Amino acid sequence: MRNRDNHRLIAAALKARHRAVAPYSRFRVGAALLTASGRIITGANVESVSYGLTCCAERVALFKALTEGAGRILAVAVVARLTGGPTPCGACRQLLVEYAPRARLLVADSRRPSMVREFTVGGLLPEAFRKLR
Ligand code: THU
Repeated sequence: MRNRDNHRLIAAALKARHRAVAPYSRFRVGAALLTASGRIITGANVESVSYGLTCCAERVALFKALTEGAGRILAVAVVARLTGGPTPCGACRQLLVEYAPRARLLVADSRRPSMVREFTVGGLLPEAFRKLR
């Protein structure tokens, strides 16, 4: 039930977006991950007055999943008020390719959540650096 999963995941990301801590950019982002066991883990962006310390929504969700022993990640949804939806930054792509290499990636504009664009994590970071040896 891929379509149902997609909408469930986008709905969770939309809800998580309300928890964004983005006083500097005011750009609120929500993310939700679907695990193989059907669990959904969410996150939102958290900003710092020392701007470089900011953490993206998808990274917050990924770190939660990893440290909660959530298991394999099948899909990642990211939403923000942005035409076409927010595609992850380079840093998040690197982490996603390391820890969710086969995941589907869904993005949507929070104003048009039924218009979902789908990518793959691997497709967004070709020739990724993966292993030291
Ligand atoms: N941001 C995310 O949370 N995810 C993205 O995919 C792109 C950017 C956040 C970081 C920062 O808090 C704000 O959006 C503006 O860049």
